Amino acid sequence: MEKIIVVDFGGQYNQLIARRVRDCGVYCEIVPHTIGIRQLKAMEPCGLIFTGGPNSVYDEASPHISGDIFSLNVPILGICYGCQLLAYMLGGKVSPAEKASAREYGRTDTSYLPGSALFDAGSGITWMSHGDYIAVPPQGFNITATTAACPVAAMECKEKRLYGVQFHLEVNHTQGGIDMLKRFLFDVCGCKGTWKMDSFIDTTVAELRETIGSNGVVLGLSGGVDSSVAAALLSKAVGKQLTCVFVDQGLMRKDEGDMVESTFTGLFDMNFVRINCQQHFYDRLKGVSDPEQKRKIIGAEFYRVFWDRIRQSYGDGFFAQGTIYPDRIESGKGSAAVIKTHHNQVKQPDDIKFLGTIEPLKDLFKDEVRRVGEMLGLPHELVWRQPFPGPGLGVRIIGEITPERVHILQEADAVLRDEMEKCGYDKEMSQFFAVLPGVKTVGVMGDGRTYDELIAIRAVTTVDFMTADWAHIPYDILGRVSNRIINEVPHVNRVVYDITSKPPGTVEWE
Ligand code: XMP
Repeated sequence: MEKIIVVDFGGQYNQLIARRVRDCGVYCEIVPHTIGIRQLKAMEPCGLIFTGGPNSVYDEASPHISGDIFSLNVPILGICYGCQLLAYMLGGKVSPAEKASAREYGRTDTSYLPGSALFDAGSGITWMSHGDYIAVPPQGFNITATTAACPVAAMECKEKRLYGVQFHLEVNHTQGGIDMLKRFLFDVCGCKGTWKMDSFIDTTVAELRETIGSNGVVLGLSGGVDSSVAAALLSKAVGKQLTCVFVDQGLMRKDEGDMVESTFTGLFDMNFVRINCQQHFYDRLKGVSDPEQKRKIIGAEFYRVFWDRIRQSYGDGFFAQGTIYPDRIESGKGSAAVIKTHHNQVKQPDDIKFLGTIEPLKDLFKDEVRRVGEMLGLPHELVWRQPFPGPGLGVRIIGEITPERVHILQEADAVLRDEMEKCGYDKEMSQFFAVLPGVKTVGVMGDGRTYDELIAIRAVTTVDFMTADWAHIPYDILGRVSNRIINEVPHVNRVVYDITSKPPGTVEWE
């Protein structure tokens, strides 16, 4: 399989670069800059891309890579810091921008000179973000683009198949950036662009059959996108050899447990085990209102129930999980590579000896996982499900969790979802939900005094959930939601809207 390797030097657009390459039909992986050259060679890349990064090539602590990389003799495209690093490693001159006018951030008019393999002569807007600049390219390189502040906005050495652009061709703001990337992939690296999702499904299904053979495989199904798509893929590969174990801890949204069950028992060939342990969780959570303690109890009980069931019946085959690519990307920032930890990568107990762990989605980005899910016929509401916290409604019920309070929140949340879906506003939001803050207020209904629960509505827009804006939902939608919740959900007499961004708030209330 043709493959492009993106070498991570700590830039903020690394995942975007990989996504763009895959969008062009070429499989792509990101590796940290600390990777050994032999390991890189074993991956048999058709080409390499050096990413941007926040450092200066002259800083001692800045990320570098061994000059042996050039012995691989594959085309390299350096972007921003990656371009400066190429220049520095090959004897060019990188200078710090002493004057502010030599730094470029954002939209920049760029002149393209004749003779480049990546673009035609002319001019256009590029997106820049750099302090240092290349003053003199290495010997054997031609300057192929310039800007008012930057004498070397792009350079190339056709003979050695080395290319560098100071600008970020991967972002939408760079006019024609994707065409430049395509020319690198197809004209320079000779890729054909045959990486497609349907070929992914066929190849993965064949691999899964080969690995699993006649053994069983067990998958922990949460009802989230990743584990649901993994379940659908495994079902296509091995049918009834697959057992999905779904723990319903009584903290899902309204009807969600039933929806998961009917989807997987109705649409797919597999064994589906639903562990109904709602009461067990409510018993364990009785009288507990500290948020951290609730989280700990829910997490610990979940795994106890889950592994107990596996131990009883399914511990002798393979264990599968829905890990996806961003869960396991190593970031090359700093001298020590850090692996992002993620709840999807479950720690297995020592006393269960599986034949191995299977992660069929480990190379896919979230949007690719969703495409696979749709192609395998999963329902839209599962494929496009919003993120849902592991502890479920437990972190949206402030104070003690009781079955009655879970019911109130489920009903209020269902009204919110229904109204948002009806007006199509659900697609504008990254995440929205109802919260039960545990505050009682006085109201008047039917000429009588009420003293009942308050519901808070939370809705955010965000790219990465690290920061988020509160969503500006139109007042008429909020009005309808409020009316319906108060009329339809017993024991609620007031609705408020949370207008806190993250930071200082978090998305969830606990
Ligand atoms: P916060 O509240 O940290 O949430 O701003 C950011 C995103 O993470 C989700 N979230 C969780 N997801 N287990 C999860 O799998 C958890 O314990 C958890 N807590 C928060 C939250 O829904 C939001 O999308």
